[in-house]
Amino acid sequence: MDRIAITGGARLEGEIPISGAKNSAIKLMAASLLTDQQLRLTNMPRLADTRFLGQLLRRLGVEIVEQDGEGGAETLLTMREVASTIAPYDLVRQMRASFNVLGPLLARAGQAKVSLPGGCTIGARPVDLHLDALRALGATIDLHEGYVYAQAARGLVGAEIDFPFVSVGATEHALLAAVLARGHTQIRNAAREPEIGDLADCLNKMGARVSGAGTATIEIEGVDRLHGATHAVLPDRIETGTFALAAAMAGGEVRLTNTRTDFIETLLSKMEEAGVHVTRHNDGVTIKRDGGRLRAVEIETDPYPGFATDLQAQFMALMTLADGESVIRETIFENRFMHVPELGRLGADIGVAGGEARVRGVESLEGAQVMATDLRASVSLVIAGLAARGETIVGRVYHLDRGFERLEEKLSACGAQVRRIKGEEVEDA
Ligand code: EPZ
Repeated sequence: MDRIAITGGARLEGEIPISGAKNSAIKLMAASLLTDQQLRLTNMPRLADTRFLGQLLRRLGVEIVEQDGEGGAETLLTMREVASTIAPYDLVRQMRASFNVLGPLLARAGQAKVSLPGGCTIGARPVDLHLDALRALGATIDLHEGYVYAQAARGLVGAEIDFPFVSVGATEHALLAAVLARGHTQIRNAAREPEIGDLADCLNKMGARVSGAGTATIEIEGVDRLHGATHAVLPDRIETGTFALAAAMAGGEVRLTNTRTDFIETLLSKMEEAGVHVTRHNDGVTIKRDGGRLRAVEIETDPYPGFATDLQAQFMALMTLADGESVIRETIFENRFMHVPELGRLGADIGVAGGEARVRGVESLEGAQVMATDLRASVSLVIAGLAARGETIVGRVYHLDRGFERLEEKLSACGAQVRRIKGEEVEDA
């Protein structure tokens, strides 16, 4: 198993290009199930998660070609015919978002058998809202032996879907199914994350009739069929925020390019409140921090446009060295403080009670061996390592590879002392 070694203390200077968004790319790839023509996705990130979903889509009958285009990596996806409507446990378990093939398969083939994804380290993460939405659209759903058996022999039918609380995955799933349903669908209390707008844009290019994505009410006029399209994946707002926090933690001046700042305004204003200099540009943002300690600030995670839960661990890493006590409330997932004991190994002083962490800023951190527990937690340890004295070694970096493209390369290009230790070079503990 690979590890990442960081020698702390180097200031970061330079430019980091941001990749396409993981959490958009994987939903866009699933949209290829809705047409027999080619979907061409550009600005594609090459990640373990896109590979996992690629394996499942191939099994279902999608032909996938990965190539380098003029604007970077591209993926061409064509499902001329449905080869299978079964998504087995082995493939869904690797990545929860694979569950979202259920709706498109139902819409295209009238039936599907998809494994329930199961829980994961950040929480139980049920899929009841997904299933309620599909039932509302006329599907018959049965659960046996860990699988969802879904039927809609005469096709899906437009419906009013009123979510009791905001779910990104359930909103996307309802959208992916409703575009081919007969008649009108209204999704109320929809998630407003930018990735949902991106999915709706792509579906509209494919011939769908979706409006209101990005607001709490999405309207969909069902169409008989969709066609091929070309769509550029939106920039990754979580990668943008992560590198912004890394630059603030290490100190120096870093320009993040090929991205958008409007998606991370909540983060940027918190960083400014803490004392980081933020300059917004048309194509990105410059993060600058001179010497001196940052101020402790409070955050609470919330659905978009609130503070992203996917940036909570990284923000906590920054707060470990701030002056004062920062209160961090996690309201989306019940178990998303797994990075706390690991940050503690580096010398951070953090107490957790329920969904609230109190981070009492310390003067310095000290490098140590730590273990990644999930994707965003693992990168928070890298961020802490950038400012810790001596060497930090982060284990289980396969978590990191799920969602960050060439992380060591991008940080090293700005002067960070980060390297990957291949599995065979060290013995894993
Ligand atoms: C998406 O997960 C993201 N994943 C997550 O990013 C992100 O943290 C999350 O949205 C919140 O922003 C992808 O896009 C692939 P939810 P998702 O449905 O869709 C509960 C990362 O690191 N819930 O909005 O699964 C659920 O348990 C990942 O990239 C139900 O109870 O999140 C959670 O408490 C981690 N029943 C809350 O809703 C349901 O049917 C919000 O989850 C669905 C969700």
